Amino acid sequence: MTALPNRDLVITEQDYGNDPLAKRETDQYRAEYIMSFVEKWDQLINWSSRAETEGRFFIDVLKSRDKLQVLDVATGTGFHSVQLIKAGFNVTSADGSAAMLAKAFENAKNKQIILQTVKADWRWLNRSIHNKFDAIICLGNSFTHLFSEADRRRALAEFYAALKHDGILIIDQRNYDSILDHGFNSKHRYYYCGDRVVVEPEHVDPGLARFRYQFPDGTEFKLNMFPLRKNYVRGLLKDAGFQSIHTYGDFQETYQEGDPDFFVHVAEKAYKNDQ
Ligand SMILES: C[S@@+](CC[C@H](N)C(=O)[O-])C[C@H]1O[C@@H](n2cnc3c(N)ncnc32)[C@H](O)[C@@H]1O
Repeated sequence: MTALPNRDLVITEQDYGNDPLAKRETDQYRAEYIMSFVEKWDQLINWSSRAETEGRFFIDVLKSRDKLQVLDVATGTGFHSVQLIKAGFNVTSADGSAAMLAKAFENAKNKQIILQTVKADWRWLNRSIHNKFDAIICLGNSFTHLFSEADRRRALAEFYAALKHDGILIIDQRNYDSILDHGFNSKHRYYYCGDRVVVEPEHVDPGLARFRYQFPDGTEFKLNMFPLRKNYVRGLLKDAGFQSIHTYGDFQETYQEGDPDFFVHVAEKAYKNDQ
């Protein structure tokens, strides 16, 4: 019997059907991260500039809390998995997209690192992930791919369950409050650090942020995302059972609400007086 090729690896066109603005489904990410877009993803994020702008932020958050076993649930092309492995963490790299995982494995291998990869959708993460981790990271504005509140709650419950009793979840997002309330305006300093790539929204309403990614060779891809408000995400984290949530703006402790391009939430499971 011959195995069928994984669909994520063979589809060649992003498929949004007849009405792209109507595509508001969690499953859509599998039809968005097609191999040709994935191959270009690293031009978009630019590993060296991103490493410079993030600095030691995630390493310091994890090390200051003695968190060594890390599950990267949105591995993408492997940037954070590789950074953390190089810094001495023990990392398991998960993602729901086979195309992304294949690229992450190749990127890491080119740096003499073999990733421990698991293909897993967040909504049923614990079907494939059986260990308990000190920390879970869900970075690069990934949580925005979940289109229903039920899916967001479900994913957070799965993350919570995959953490040890004093585990932490680090999850980030675009500053959608600012986009929804004042329009798009980005410093382009963080996350999408490639200097010849244009990233901008082509449609925003309270239920959809559709972004366009244009590359120097003229190719163009889209992503349909749900515009998460910051306090809404903080509320979901609280509801999921996390006891303390600290939100940074562009990696800083203090910020003016409208200023940051991105927020990072550090959510802790443990009760303060339980540690
Ligand atoms: C915007 S990319 C970010 C990748 C990487 N963390 C980075 O910062 O470059 C979002 C990633 O989340 C993954 N993803 C989206 N929805 C998912 C889901 N429901 N389950 C598992 N992975 C998902 C995608 O496959 C993709 O690799």
